[in-house]
Amino acid sequence: MSGHLAVVGLGPGDARWLTPEADAALARAEALYGYAGYLDRIPSRPGQARHPSDNHEEAARAAASLHAAAAGAEVAIVTGGDPGVFAIAAAVCAEIEAGPESFRQLEVTITPGISAMLAVAARAGAPLANDFCAISLSDNLKPWELVERRLKAAAGAGFVIALYNPASRARPWQLGRALDVLRQSLPAETPVVFGRAVGRPDESVAVRTLATAEPAGADMATLVIVGSPETRVIARPDGPPLVYTPRAAHSVDP
Ligand SMILES: C[S@@+](CC[C@H](N)C(=O)[O-])C[C@H]1O[C@@H](n2cnc3c(N)ncnc32)[C@H](O)[C@@H]1O
Repeated sequence: MSGHLAVVGLGPGDARWLTPEADAALARAEALYGYAGYLDRIPSRPGQARHPSDNHEEAARAAASLHAAAAGAEVAIVTGGDPGVFAIAAAVCAEIEAGPESFRQLEVTITPGISAMLAVAARAGAPLANDFCAISLSDNLKPWELVERRLKAAAGAGFVIALYNPASRARPWQLGRALDVLRQSLPAETPVVFGRAVGRPDESVAVRTLATAEPAGADMATLVIVGSPETRVIARPDGPPLVYTPRAAHSVDP
């Protein structure tokens, strides 16, 4: 007997940013799998089992959810933001690729969510309105040299850069090093947005420049957006500044 696995993105935190499709997938599930911090965001439903796990157990969590679905259950595995952006959907795909034939026969639905970069960009203005890219500063799954190479290439090509996973207790120096790398090729006045816990009660958003950006302003709940040389800041007397990147780029030289 074969069940169903829903891979569900919860969005960055605000319950209003959970899509109706994601909400319906959560309501339908007999069993929920996920990092405990994400499961805590979901109201409990009678008869629905919860299988919380540690942040570092992605492969085991994905495999457990697939085994439960293959045994016939209606299962949801959840993640913050979008499940395909630096998140669990890739681990589920990897387990299906490496796992038994029963995993390939399963019905799998991947439900998109609002990714953190979109929420932080909306709070700041429109910094991602021209070409941009996203880079994770976590070197748990890739060498740091590759991160630096991608940072240099992105800055050199004129992309706005969304930095996921900028810092954690175990990775305290990576954001400082990344900002130093970007300072080598971007102007000192390039706007930098720090969006922390956006959509949650402890949300904060700060706008700095590349010259004044402090790595201490970020933790594992922060997303950092580094502008391109075209990104602008509009100061406003009665509110936070608006950061935006014009839709039009007139020069080939970034
Ligand atoms: C493992 S990644 C998961 C990203 C997620 N799948 C997404 O689409 O947003 C975790 C990183 O996302 C960013 N992040 C997640 N939620 C956030 C929020 N509410 N505010 C700011 N950044 C957030 C932070 O950079 C954090 O270190």
